[in-house]
Amino acid sequence: MASNDTNLTTRPSVAVHTPGTATGAESAASVMRLRDVSVYYGSYEAVRGTSMPIQQNQVTAMIGPSGCGKSTVLRALNRMNDPIPGARVSGDVLFHGQNLYARDVDPIQVRRRIGMVFQKPNPFPKSIYDNVAYGLRINGIKGRLDDHVEEALTQAALWDEVKDKLRKSALALSGGQQQRLCIARTIAVKPEVILMDEPCSALDPIATAKIEDLIFELTNDYTIVIVTHNMQQAARVSHYTAFFTAEVDEQQERHGRLVEFSQTGKLFTNPADKRTEDYITGRFG
Ligand SMILES: Nc1ncnc2c1ncn2[C@@H]1O[C@H](COP(=O)(O)OP(=O)(O)OP(=O)(O)O)[C@@H](O)[C@H]1O
Ligand SMILES: [Mg+2]
Repeated sequence: MASNDTNLTTRPSVAVHTPGTATGAESAASVMRLRDVSVYYGSYEAVRGTSMPIQQNQVTAMIGPSGCGKSTVLRALNRMNDPIPGARVSGDVLFHGQNLYARDVDPIQVRRRIGMVFQKPNPFPKSIYDNVAYGLRINGIKGRLDDHVEEALTQAALWDEVKDKLRKSALALSGGQQQRLCIARTIAVKPEVILMDEPCSALDPIATAKIEDLIFELTNDYTIVIVTHNMQQAARVSHYTAFFTAEVDEQQERHGRLVEFSQTGKLFTNPADKRTEDYITGRFG
């Protein structure tokens, strides 16, 4: 598949996109865009009217108090809310201008192009090698599997630590190594966008620093969206920051809302909204 093929409705024959290559008119700046996105769980509108871009080869951080809808919005970016009974998205989640929720879009294909790394490292109870090879195999990528596995582990800054024990269980790795393995598993199928939901929250400071360095490196090839509770982390790793909060409406219902989206430096030093300022200075949340 050529790098400018943005068709999400058919399955790929082989791997795919050359990461980091600008594709199409919109992607010079933004690879994804949320347009008036609301997310419901049943009748409950958890997040209301969110509009923001996701800039290509940049890190976008999502911050805000617990329950403001960060994970909900993140999951909406690759249709990860689909399996939750009653979950529904309104508005447009555009990927290269194509609505991910259009009828003919294949969610499996969406999740291959827009991968996700979770809060708790979740390697499969398989070997290190098989964890990385998994996605390659189910996508029918044959032949140079060893090369793909090595490349992904190298990109995830894990190769040197595991190259002599590829057939050992992934579960024997440290938490930080497991998280880098999960990143390797995600990047093995060469997505364009990587979503990370608090990827360091189960890790110690040294492992966290490694993942932060890695996130920075990965922007050479990928676009990253990271949810974090840690404002210092958002300030360290991201180029853009979206600040969400939860507000109570006239019916006494809480809804998550995007308050401010800015370049990270500006959001943390000169926020446009008083609510952002209160949050980042610790007066709220
Ligand atoms: N599967 C679900 N079913 C019903 N409601 C849900 C579900 N997941 C989240 N919610 C609700 O949606 C709102 C937003 O939750 P979400 O998990 O997105 O917040 P968050 O900002 O990620 O919080 P945290 O920082 O604690 O992870 C909350 O009110 C939550 O209770
Ligand atoms: Mg969350």
